[in-house]
Amino acid sequence: MKFMSRRVIVGALVIAVTCLPGVAPVGGQTAPEEKPQMADEVFKNVQVLRGLTVDEFMGTMGFIAASLSMNCIDCHSVEAASDVTKYAVDTPVKQTARKMILMVKSINAANFGGKQTVTCYSCHRSGNAPKAIPSLAEQYGTPPPEDPNEVEIVGEPRSGAPSADQVFDKYIQALGGAQQLAKLTSFVAKGTYEGFDTGDEKAPVEVYAKAPDQLTAIVRIPQGDSIRTYDGRTGWMTSTGTLLPLPVLVLARGNLEGARLDAELCFPAQIKRTLTEWRTGFPPTFIDDNEVDVVQGTSVAKTPVKLYFDKKSGLLVRLVRYTNTAIGTNPTQIDYSDYRDVAGVKMPFHYTVTWTDGRSTTELSSVQPNLPIDASKFAKPAAARKAGTP
Ligand code: HEC
Ligand code: HEC
Repeated sequence: MKFMSRRVIVGALVIAVTCLPGVAPVGGQTAPEEKPQMADEVFKNVQVLRGLTVDEFMGTMGFIAASLSMNCIDCHSVEAASDVTKYAVDTPVKQTARKMILMVKSINAANFGGKQTVTCYSCHRSGNAPKAIPSLAEQYGTPPPEDPNEVEIVGEPRSGAPSADQVFDKYIQALGGAQQLAKLTSFVAKGTYEGFDTGDEKAPVEVYAKAPDQLTAIVRIPQGDSIRTYDGRTGWMTSTGTLLPLPVLVLARGNLEGARLDAELCFPAQIKRTLTEWRTGFPPTFIDDNEVDVVQGTSVAKTPVKLYFDKKSGLLVRLVRYTNTAIGTNPTQIDYSDYRDVAGVKMPFHYTVTWTDGRSTTELSSVQPNLPIDASKFAKPAAARKAGTP
């Protein structure tokens, strides 16, 4: 059985409010003010995935769903689609999944020093029934094209490849130069957004960004505003359009780190300082037939972040970052395009965020530079404010 619809009912919680074109020292980071909620306390029947924040727990669900190409309700009861408390009901498939979580833990403990070497995806490969017999069709067929997200440096870095500094300098130049970038300290953008929380329908979005690292996106949908905010320390998202039994989710670890990165990349003059341990020298890599320079950094959470710069234009066209979950790592990919000039700085007016449970697209129609933005725009969002209210 292959599940055709991959639409996810409870929005999986990889958060991405993005924009591009700063200043943001990685050091000096303070601990987030507000503690994320714990899954054991919020949910009713958590037996093996203990001690996780709600954010990490939902990321783990997303990892499972993606590894098996299953929808949430393929494993949970159908009623869970409209009533979140029904996720607690044990179905036979869910019980199998619970056993599998323990099996994977013990395989890794017994053979790989406890590292997440074997995951659900190792066997399942986007299907619910792992195959046991090698496929001759695959062995002798044409291999699928290489996925640029999987490019790695094997052995020595490729010689002759530009250094991270060179790629960044070209990027800053392509955006309009360091002087122009320094003059941009905030912006307010308007456009449309579509994603799981809007039922994949276009809805109006407002984006507020303030240097060095504050970012809020408000999507106006009939059932209330869907808001994602990063205030420079803490990140939140409202659960509008999701079924989470919490009005506002506090972001944890990988997703918090992702929110910080998104906010800092709105003002990329200091891009070098957003991550550490930069590496270049990847094998030749292409996105849609265009050659890209790949630069990889390491996040505070010690996960890699890959940045892909178009070799011709020098502009950032893709970012791939990773979030650890209890049983494996979720990738998030952001593709940027339609760069337009705003006050002498090029900004992407189109970006698509793809993660294990969905895809969202934002298309901006206007960006107003250097407007004063009230501090309340970056404060913890109120739960699902009715559309149209400030
Ligand atoms: C392959 C099976 C599988 C899929 C697919 C799956 N889950 Fe789960 N889910 C589980 C298992 C197993 C548990 C119990 C974990 C435990 O006991 O620690 C669980 C528990 C939960 C709980 C906690 C319920 C409670 O009150 O105890 C929620 C909420 C949940 N899942 C949501 C989701 C969402 C949302 C998705 C889709 C993104 C999803 N699940 C996809 C297997 C699955
Ligand atoms: C070492 C290989 C392996 C790994 C790793 C693995 N599985 Fe499985 N899984 C299997 C096999 C094989 C089956 C089919 C068993 C059968 O046919 O009876 C299966 C079946 C299942 C099923 C039942 C599917 C159905 O439609 O009845 C679920 C659910 C499942 N696995 C979830 C998981 C989850 C979640 C993980 C990660 C925590 C995982 N598996 C990791 C090998 C694996």
